[in-house]
Amino acid sequence: MKMLVTGGAGFIGANFVHYTVKNRPEHDVTVIDKLTYAGNEANLAPVANKITFVKGDICDVELMDKLVSETDIVVHFAAESHNDNSLRDPWPFVNTNIVGTYTILEAVRKHGKRLHHISTDEVFGDLELDDPNRFTETTPYNPSSPYSSTKAGSDMLVRAWIRSFGIKATISNCSNNYGPYQHIEKFIPRQITNILSDIKPKLYGTGEQVRDWIHVDDHNEAVHLIIDKAPMGETYIIGADNDHVNNKQVIEMICEAMGKPKDWYEHVNDRPGHDLRYAMDSGKLRRELGWQPKYTDNNGMMEALKTTAQWYDEHRDWWQADKQAVEANYAKQGQ
Ligand code: NAD
Ligand code: TYD
Repeated sequence: MKMLVTGGAGFIGANFVHYTVKNRPEHDVTVIDKLTYAGNEANLAPVANKITFVKGDICDVELMDKLVSETDIVVHFAAESHNDNSLRDPWPFVNTNIVGTYTILEAVRKHGKRLHHISTDEVFGDLELDDPNRFTETTPYNPSSPYSSTKAGSDMLVRAWIRSFGIKATISNCSNNYGPYQHIEKFIPRQITNILSDIKPKLYGTGEQVRDWIHVDDHNEAVHLIIDKAPMGETYIIGADNDHVNNKQVIEMICEAMGKPKDWYEHVNDRPGHDLRYAMDSGKLRRELGWQPKYTDNNGMMEALKTTAQWYDEHRDWWQADKQAVEANYAKQGQ
């Protein structure tokens, strides 16, 4: 099967390509990526001779028409993905996440190709801290930030193209990922690289907020299962039941995993409009497709945090050049 992976030089996309080359060698993978600040061709270096790489923009109508016409399936990861950036400058989010997804949908419709659209739990908005409920596939959309609203918009476009034009597509909404190759602007790698740089980890506000953390390999295994087995038109929630740890506890776990005292961190300004709690009910994916995450409890997450910290320690060349600029940007917001 020919597979076109958009955003394959970014965090989850690159891990997906590595996973696919290793575990599904029958797939013939092409990556299309604009190589924004978040994309890095070096992320694909270990598999460079096994895939085709195209540098380009998913908003480029002619390019996407050509690439989609040559593939069997599009797995669509490309996006502007960081909430804090979307508060500083929303336009790239509107363009890539909405116009880019529209461009792919039109090419998929014209050429009758299959699409799997990657999305986020943030489209649902947030839950109160004491709300025991979890998001399901039928939770109404209620996004808070420019990032989550543009992802919600892209999901709505995919749903409309399924219903109105009968395209062959599936959608997944996953919770917060962590693992190797994640940009150091994001919560977990920022704190790991802070500790490796002898800077104290930075906790927004009180740190009571909850994210339902999932290891990137658990996410990508679910995506492959959906591609292989899911009926067309379906949406699946992906989450690993880690909604019992808040940001403060995650920072403490990172400090512990890296041999620092548990309280070796500092509080910084909170994010405006900060979503309180995300929690995912992935029962449909488990029941219908037999998915099981590997990193589910505090021990599993602790082990995965240690492995992730070790990866950043062993790959300092990958992040060190960006560290000062990322921290300077945060410092402007008192973060
Ligand atoms: P990322 O920012 O690390 O990577 C995004 C990639 O897309 C980069 O390689 C970038 O160069 C590329 N890209 C951006 N604009 C492009 C354009 N116009 N044309 C072509 N390529 C472009 O993001 P990520 O964390 O790997 O997220 C991947 C997908 O997963 C996104 O759709 C995101 O919404 C979704 N998601 C992420 C998380 C998470 O925790 N990171 C959780 C759930 C869902
Ligand atoms: P982030 O990785 O930006 O993901 P998202 O905004 O998609 O959830 O942030 C995860 C959580 O961590 C979020 O509640 C904000 C918080 N956070 C901090 O406390 N400190 C930080 O330095 C960053 C980047 C995030």
